[in-house]
Amino acid sequence: MDSILIQGGRPLRGTLSVQGCKNALLPLMAAAAAIPGQTILTGCPPIRDETVTLALLEGLGVSTAAERDRLVLDASRDGGTAPDPTLAGQLRSSVLFLGALLGRYGHAGVPLPGGCVLGKRPLDLHLAGLEALGVQSFCDGGILHCKGRPRGGHYHLPYPSVGATENLILAALGAEEPVWITGAAREPEIEDLVNFLTASGARISGGGSSRVHIIPAPLHGTSYRVLPDRMEAATWLCAAACTGGSLTLTRLCPDHLRPVLRALRAAGCEITEGEASLRICAGDLHSPGSVRTAPYPGFPTDAQAPVMAALLRAEGITRFEETVFDDRFRHIPALQAMGARIACSGSAALVTGVRELHGARVAATDLRGAAAMVCAALGARGESEITQAWHLDRGYGNFVQRLRRLGAVALAR
Ligand code: EPZ
Repeated sequence: MDSILIQGGRPLRGTLSVQGCKNALLPLMAAAAAIPGQTILTGCPPIRDETVTLALLEGLGVSTAAERDRLVLDASRDGGTAPDPTLAGQLRSSVLFLGALLGRYGHAGVPLPGGCVLGKRPLDLHLAGLEALGVQSFCDGGILHCKGRPRGGHYHLPYPSVGATENLILAALGAEEPVWITGAAREPEIEDLVNFLTASGARISGGGSSRVHIIPAPLHGTSYRVLPDRMEAATWLCAAACTGGSLTLTRLCPDHLRPVLRALRAAGCEITEGEASLRICAGDLHSPGSVRTAPYPGFPTDAQAPVMAALLRAEGITRFEETVFDDRFRHIPALQAMGARIACSGSAALVTGVRELHGARVAATDLRGAAAMVCAALGARGESEITQAWHLDRGYGNFVQRLRRLGAVALAR
């Protein structure tokens, strides 16, 4: 999708089933390369990052088949340990092949990853953790080379990096001795990875907690349904909040969205919960006070931009503080072009509610920033065009069709 055209001002209404989670699916796909068997994943979202990762797997000799929301990945035969640089450079999660291939083969040469530009995004925690487990690594010509099967031992993550936690768990699967990871990230996507690996024969405890223990064990194929996408759910809630709409979302885990629900309720949204569903009714909103992002279970950084969009017309002033990434306000100029009043200073942004937003032609900056621009455009008077809309294709499947099903006037170009 090159660009998306939106005619704003219509409340979104209807019911939507939440798709599978991009940030849960991608680690599972990387893990499949480490498993000498057939892995079947269901509930997979039709997103570009999945297509790119399928091509990465094929290039490593893993046979793949995709039909609707089902992936069949067969890595029974030994394969390559050097993912394609052009593909790997398109997404951040390609770095997870480092741990997966290292655990299985004892060496790997993985290109430096790509993904959303949100600041520096170094890999020092990944490499320090692998080194603590006895793995030497060096970077040569944009390729990260790791040699030596992980010995085993303990590594304390000084910051709960999601990717570093996932990479160390994957590498530990092939370690000579048990591995302890403390200070681990606690995101639901990590718990989902551990649940999947356990179903594949791994012996792991503490997935989703800050203390993870891995005892190396033989792995085998399995069939597994991907976790629902809490960030897609958050995006739809914000789209309803932007348009004064009412939406029912099904097939999700409300518990994985607690901070987002708290903020939207404090802003005046009426949100009722079922066991695996949410219903939001939004009217005139007011500031919830402040929103500060933090590692899980704190307010998720991926929801910062969409929730900011939802509060652009909320009465009062909302203070956003972004503590996870060092450059994650790149969506703000586009929101200002639509008439939003936002003052930035370092990691803080003050949003003063305005009565009305107007359409504008803006360029998407990253996946969640693009989602925020769509939400703001839905609540703006007049037409907006969001270019570079391919960012949306990376993490939201059938996005325009799903918008239109909810009554939005939207067109993909
Ligand atoms: C994952 O990225 C997600 N991506 C991100 O979602 C999400 O925003 C992020 O976790 C935080 O929740 C995927 O799962 C594919 P981190 P990741 O390592 O693993 C710093 C989206 O929109 N850091 O937890 O890259 C880093 O610079 C995407 O779906 C180091 O300093 O996140 C950042 O400031 C965007 N050194 C902070 O930690 C390291 O070695 C959090 O990064 C690693 C990270």
